[in-house]
Amino acid sequence: MSITIRALHNGFAGVVSGIDICAPLARGEVTAIEKGMDDYAVLTFPDQPLTDDQQIAFTQNFGELEITLAGQMAKPSERRFQRLELGGISNLEADDVTKLRERNDKRRMYALANRLWHSDASFRAVGAGYTLLHARIVPGKGGDTQFADMRAAYDALSAAEKAEVENLVCEHSIVFSREQIGFNDYNPGHEAHLKPVPHKLVLTHPKTGRKSLYLSSHIGGIAGWPVPEARAFLRDLTEHATQPRFVYSHAWKVGDLVMWDNRTVMHRATRFDDLKEVRDLRRTSLKGVGLEVQRQPATAAA
Ligand code: OGA
Ligand code: MN
Repeated sequence: MSITIRALHNGFAGVVSGIDICAPLARGEVTAIEKGMDDYAVLTFPDQPLTDDQQIAFTQNFGELEITLAGQMAKPSERRFQRLELGGISNLEADDVTKLRERNDKRRMYALANRLWHSDASFRAVGAGYTLLHARIVPGKGGDTQFADMRAAYDALSAAEKAEVENLVCEHSIVFSREQIGFNDYNPGHEAHLKPVPHKLVLTHPKTGRKSLYLSSHIGGIAGWPVPEARAFLRDLTEHATQPRFVYSHAWKVGDLVMWDNRTVMHRATRFDDLKEVRDLRRTSLKGVGLEVQRQPATAAA
C-alpha cells in the first residue's frame, strides 16, 4: 500500500488513501503525511475506524498533544473522557451518552462559538498546530466543517495590503470570541487563561516559508489601534479570507478523520439540529511549534 493524496479544492485540502491509520505508522508514512499537510493544509482520511487510543497514538506521530482550555476549565463532572488529551466535540451528555444536551446547557453555549471562523487555541501563547477530528456519529443533515485557506487569502491581497498587515500584532482571548455570541459564563479560578495574548497577523510557515493570515474570531484588537477601528478592519479581512474560492466544506461520514493546520487554516462548524440529532466527534490537537517564536513583532524591521 502506498499513500496517495488527491486535491479537493484549488490545491487546498487533500483526501488521503492507501494507508491504515489505525495501525502504527512507518516513518515514511509520517513524513508523507507531514508533506501532505504542508502542501494541502487540510487532509481527510476516509474509512478509518479509530478507537480513542488509536487516535491518540496516531496524533503522537506529529508532535506533543495539547490539553484544551475547555478541558482544563471543565469541572470533573463536566468531562466525558479520563484522558484530557481527548476532547469530545459532541452534543451528548458527559455522564449519560444516551442523552442529548439540553438547550440551555452551558457547554452547548460555549461550543456554539465553534460556528465562528477561528484558529484553534489562538488565545494561548502557543496556539494549536494540527487539530484532528474523527467522526463517530454524524447527523442526517448539516454539521459540516468548513476550512478556509489562509495562505491563498494572504496571496490574494494586493501589495499595498500585504505591506499594511505585515507587522501587525493582534490580541487574542477566548473572551473575544465568546462575547460575539453573548457567552460569559466561565467557571471561577481561570482568570489568567482569559487574558489576551499577542500574535503576529502574518505568519511564515516554519517549514514551507509560505506566508498566511493568522486570523481568528478570538482576536479582539490590534496593538496600537483603537478597538473599533481594529475590529472593523479585521471584519473586512476575515470577509476577504473566507470567500468561497478559499473554502473547502467537509461533509462528514462515520469513520472520517480530518486533520488541519491551525497555522494556515481557519475553520468553523455549521449548524445541525443538535436538539434532535446526534453528532459525536473525537478531537485531539497538537501544540503549534513555530508559532510562539513569532509572537512579538520583528523589532529591527518594524
Ligand atoms: C474544533 C471545531 C468544528 C466542528 O473541534 O476545534 O472547531 O465542525 N470543530 O465541530
Ligand atoms: Mn476549532
